[in-house]
Amino acid sequence: MKVLLLNGSPHSDGSIYTALNEMIKVFEKEGIETELIHCGNLDIRGCMACHACGKLGKCVYDDIVNEVAAKLEKADGLVVGSPVYYASANATVVALLDRLFFSAHFDMRMKVGAAVASARRGGLTATFDELNKYFTISGMPVASGQYWNGIHGNNAEEAVQDREGMQMMRTLAANMAFLIKSIALGKEKYGLPEREAPQMMNFIH
Ligand SMILES: Cc1cc2nc3c(=O)[nH]c(=O)nc-3n(C[C@H](O)[C@H](O)[C@H](O)COP(=O)(O)O)c2cc1C
Repeated sequence: MKVLLLNGSPHSDGSIYTALNEMIKVFEKEGIETELIHCGNLDIRGCMACHACGKLGKCVYDDIVNEVAAKLEKADGLVVGSPVYYASANATVVALLDRLFFSAHFDMRMKVGAAVASARRGGLTATFDELNKYFTISGMPVASGQYWNGIHGNNAEEAVQDREGMQMMRTLAANMAFLIKSIALGKEKYGLPEREAPQMMNFIH
């Protein structure tokens, strides 16, 4: 079992890294493999809406997005960490997630998702809500913890002082590990739910 963690901050060792690292320690204790990908420092362009991915099964821009997609296909869970920029996820994370979720054509159902935000002061829950929307449009159950997953701090030094925030990360990881293990058992016993052919309606009749 494996969890992929995306550090969407430009900083490799800032608040988001501190939060994700606290989760990694719990995953390791739970026997769940982890891979932390630092993507927030990369130049990631937004979606061009060219729809080439419909034919290619991957994004036409062959960059980190396709690398993450290949890893996510094999993973059982995804944690997305973003610093709050103007009360929302930062632009790099949004560009990556828009292209990842639009272009990936494999079945994401029952891969467990979790969102983590960090901020100096405000905008955590707006960012948390924003990130969770990628999971809930994809049939991915969302792991929850003891609060709306967020940590306060402008850098790692400040983040570790948010004792409640750090505890949130441990609780979230423990719950996510339980969910991943339970889903693995459920898939073995019952298989994935049947799926109807998609109905795409662009307007209300
Ligand atoms: C462009 C920009 C916008 C920001 N906007 C907010 C904000 O709306 N609310 C807030 O509390 N902090 C804001 N911050 C501070 C970061 O969210 C905060 O420092 C974050 O925890 C940094 O995480 P990191 O160390 O992983 O990069 C902003 C920082 C930058 C650079």
